[in-house]
Amino acid sequence: MSMDHKETTNQPVLTESEETACQRSFITMNQQMLQSEKQAKGRSLTYCLRTFGCQMNEKQSEVVAGIMDEIGYVRVDTEEADVVIFNTCTVRENANLKVYGRLGYLHNLKKHRPEMKIILFGCMMQEKHVVEKIQKDYKFVDLVFGTHNIFKFAELFYGMQNAEKQMIEIWEGTDQVVEDLPTERNYSFKSGVNVMFGCNNFCSYCIVPYVRGRERSRRPEAIIKEIRRLVADGVTEVMLLGQNVNSYGKTLEEPVSFARLLTQVEEIEGLKRIRFMTSHPKDLSDELIEVMAKSRKICHHLHLPLQSGSSRVLKEMNRRYDKEKYLSLVEKIRTAIPDISLTTDLIVGFPGETEEDFLETMDVVDKADYDTAFTFIYSKRTGTPAAKKEDQVPEDVVKDRFDRLLALVQEKGRKVSSRFLGTTQEVLVEEESKEKGIFTGRTQYNLLVHFPGTADMLGTYVNVKLEECKGFYYLGSLAE
Ligand code: SAH
Ligand code: SF4
Ligand code: F3S
Repeated sequence: MSMDHKETTNQPVLTESEETACQRSFITMNQQMLQSEKQAKGRSLTYCLRTFGCQMNEKQSEVVAGIMDEIGYVRVDTEEADVVIFNTCTVRENANLKVYGRLGYLHNLKKHRPEMKIILFGCMMQEKHVVEKIQKDYKFVDLVFGTHNIFKFAELFYGMQNAEKQMIEIWEGTDQVVEDLPTERNYSFKSGVNVMFGCNNFCSYCIVPYVRGRERSRRPEAIIKEIRRLVADGVTEVMLLGQNVNSYGKTLEEPVSFARLLTQVEEIEGLKRIRFMTSHPKDLSDELIEVMAKSRKICHHLHLPLQSGSSRVLKEMNRRYDKEKYLSLVEKIRTAIPDISLTTDLIVGFPGETEEDFLETMDVVDKADYDTAFTFIYSKRTGTPAAKKEDQVPEDVVKDRFDRLLALVQEKGRKVSSRFLGTTQEVLVEEESKEKGIFTGRTQYNLLVHFPGTADMLGTYVNVKLEECKGFYYLGSLAE
């Protein structure tokens, strides 16, 4: 294996199952190496894994955690560990700054613990300028890889242990989807499931298509097999993940629609709840709405990113819908599924955004009745078409618009989500809050509810009466 910076479109020569077998043999080699290290040190060795960014990153981190656990490292929640691993995000500048901030801290730690290993992977590492900076200014980082070769983690880890200097392996793309690697799930009762990777949409502000590569769907059989296995292992809620799930299956040899996939997932016995994200409004089909309306398992929650309410800005963003189309889609969904909970993503300060454009966004927020909305300040991402635009909006104007939008989103959200006040809802109990004896559950509408409960309820479904609405969460108590 090369120890130098290598950028390659390496198309794997192994078949999927050969690749899995190959990675398993690297796990064994790592295990042997760890054994002798443990003996030399007279203690077990630890790792810390932090994930930045979206649920797809969370999901991929589970694979890395699964492999580290299988090798025999003990996971800890402090960076004072033998191996520190960051799965990075670069969707907005803030995400990058957080990683650089932590690296400063790690550098200090490593001065006192020179044997510590530092590994960076994920979206941020797919950017050339980031890798160059790490090579130049962060020489203490031991291993860097990207988003396309995560399935090679065991091999890369082994290579790093035997390398004399920083090892960097970034692929520009891959067609490969490797199944059946060990994975360590964050929750025992719910799980994300990738249905596709990458994105072909090239919204003009967005870096994701550049760092995640072209859209690739997993075969329906592989998805169903994974979910069956998860259900056998105690999972009752799945979240199907993709940057644009509505275009799922289009590139498969035997094309399948996302709606069809959902009907197959629905048939899995023992599975209780199905969620998915993200839905791009341009591809949301009538078939999907129909399947959702009929389903007994698909949660009545839809995350439908608007980004901007101005048709002019939407065009500049390359979103391929306009304000009217979006609002009529919302109406269609509400007619078919009256109790649907809608949430969205909004960007403020896209280059050239005028006050009038901004007021269009405020107007849609007012009309669409979102339960919540994630509001983002536009962040310039090198390499995207929008970054080249000269009419960037001044910071103070953006800040003012952001504050006004957030105030509206919160005011509307409080009103909209208070529609459940006084009702009894079935919730999946997810965790005990910091306050002992108070548990947090999630309704099918994705609303959180805090209520007094007991530890045996974790991972089960209980009925909770929603007694006090706090905006995006409720306080409640167990129903009789
Ligand atoms: N695939 C999803 C979004 C993934 S990124 C979709 O199309 O809906 C999550 C959110 O980050 C986006 O919806 C968008 O609101 C926000 N985002 C992406 N790029 C951004 C940028 N350059 N600046 C600010 N927000 C951005
Ligand atoms: Fe980015 Fe657009 Fe793809 Fe979403 S659909 S990941 S916003 S390019
Ligand atoms: Fe971030 Fe990559 Fe997700 S850039 S939002 S972690 S796809």
